[in-house]
Amino acid sequence: MKILFLGDVVGRAGRDAVISRLPRLREEWSLDFVVVNGENATAGIGISADHAKAILNAGADCLTLGDHAFDQKDMFSFIESEPRIIRPLNYAKTAPGRGARLFDARGGRKILVAQVLGQVFMKRPFDDPFSAVDAVLRNHPLGGMAQAILVDVHAEATSEKMGMGHWCDGRASVVVGTHTHVPTGDAQILLGGTAFQSDAGMCGDYNSVIGMDKLEPLRRFVTGMGKERFTPAEGDATLAGLYVETDDRSGKATKVRMIRVGGKLQESLP
Ligand SMILES: [Fe+2]
Ligand SMILES: [Fe+2]
Repeated sequence: MKILFLGDVVGRAGRDAVISRLPRLREEWSLDFVVVNGENATAGIGISADHAKAILNAGADCLTLGDHAFDQKDMFSFIESEPRIIRPLNYAKTAPGRGARLFDARGGRKILVAQVLGQVFMKRPFDDPFSAVDAVLRNHPLGGMAQAILVDVHAEATSEKMGMGHWCDGRASVVVGTHTHVPTGDAQILLGGTAFQSDAGMCGDYNSVIGMDKLEPLRRFVTGMGKERFTPAEGDATLAGLYVETDDRSGKATKVRMIRVGGKLQESLP
């Protein structure tokens, strides 16, 4: 299976880049399944129903969220009516939506997508992500019902994300980190056959501070005094993420490539 994962879409620049480029990439790279993390798509915080629909219509098969899952209030109800959106497994017990789901991929194949939130350096303590993922993977052995399994680990600490990669090694096809908005250079296939990257990076304007217009973050760093809200940077965005090919029988990864298209970052293609 040819799978593309795109990291956190940030603001209008990120949305426009995904919506304008994804249809062609789907075609050109013969993608079987596309997952996009949409947690910052609307003004940098959360994602509205309209923006979720626009990214799904552009060719995403699944949207994952994150700690900002419900910052746009219409997501509380929209997620119940749109099964292609996944929120973290270990979010509040009362959160609407679900944290894992089996999807149809091209050619009658199935792919399981799950998302978890990390605990290290996160603003709010979430339930243990390792046991949350473990329960899902035990219920869905790779190569059984699902030809492929993708886990989005939404966390601040690279150490925790790497730990999650090894925890899932051999049990998931792909474990990819999100949340920190800068792609890490460590894409690899782990010993058990799981494709892994600590962070996919963001789909957004990299002439920024993690996707936000530089002025206000710098003011806060330099003076310690905030003046305005953060707003997403509006320049040309880079699509950043991970491309993975998997073996349909074993579910293991056979090829992994870091993806960077457009904007400021050096290009990297499958
Ligand atoms: Fe994010
Ligand atoms: Fe996040």
